[in-house]
Amino acid sequence: DWTPASFVEETVEAIQEKVGNDKVVLGLSGGVDSSVAAVLLNKAIGKNLYCIFVNNGLLRKNEFENVLQQYEGMGLNVKGVDASGRFLAALKGIEDPEQKRKAIGNAFIEVFDDEAHKIKDVKWLAQGTIYPDVIESVSATGGPSATIKSHHNVGGLPDFMKLKVVEPLRAIFKDEVRRVGATLGINPELLGRHPFPGPGLGIRILGDITAEKVRILQEVDAIFIDGLKAWGLYDQVWQAGAMLLPVNSVGVMGDERTYEKCVALRAVESTDGMTADWVNLPYAFLQKVSNDIINKVKGVNRVVYDISSKPPATIEWE
Ligand code: XMP
Repeated sequence: DWTPASFVEETVEAIQEKVGNDKVVLGLSGGVDSSVAAVLLNKAIGKNLYCIFVNNGLLRKNEFENVLQQYEGMGLNVKGVDASGRFLAALKGIEDPEQKRKAIGNAFIEVFDDEAHKIKDVKWLAQGTIYPDVIESVSATGGPSATIKSHHNVGGLPDFMKLKVVEPLRAIFKDEVRRVGATLGINPELLGRHPFPGPGLGIRILGDITAEKVRILQEVDAIFIDGLKAWGLYDQVWQAGAMLLPVNSVGVMGDERTYEKCVALRAVESTDGMTADWVNLPYAFLQKVSNDIINKVKGVNRVVYDISSKPPATIEWE
């Protein structure tokens, strides 16, 4: 019978046998899969695992600092690389969703490649690939690996891709990954995190991306997500987030006319992200969150709730 404990034991041995005394590099995303992969590898090879956590400037509010601290607390050998400026520069003026994804993916590859080069004699690339990623490897939404694939087709393989690959979670599903993570003592809050796309807030800001828009969306998103947690709704929702729309609308504040941004909130139920339904969040909750957003986030005067199912609407707006 499959148990998380036997999986951990067997996988740790298999990793040790496979990589021996070689050095391994792994990109952490803050998500469940890469975190569980990192802790497993750390258990197997300790300091020979070099983790890299890149701030692309499109993470949630305070996410880079908080998650980096958590990783350090877990005993991981992790380097945080703040490349926000580089990503913002690469995105400047780009409005097309696919071009944004490409720009973000390419910037990620450049930063990761630079960092991997700084590790002397690294031989392996570890990835948090799980079984559904393997069977959907042609999917357009595979995160960094999907981007790497399109880059690969263009030619000019980055050096880190010449590394041998170790993927300890390749044969298991998400719920099993969470159970393995729990057995490894990973904090339940981290294991229960909603999925978050690799391109981050970059595909939730419709139109061109600026530092100011990122700041606005981070504030809105934080109010929404903290609200879900405070109301005990977070774990009932598969994924939630906010979109910054490229639309201004007229409002009134005191006796002043305003002409400011509109945000859309989205919360969905799903099992695998392939299909999804919008969540019937309590009106009282939506009312509170909407008021908080409009009162606290300068530059936003209107909040709407997305009531579209997937298909045909996707979860992300871009
Ligand atoms: P869509 O918008 O296609 O999203 O309904 C389905 C799920 O995939 C996530 N997503 C991504 N994840 N890189 C990722 O790592 C991406 O480029 C990407 N695009 C979408 C999305 O957040 C949802 O969970």
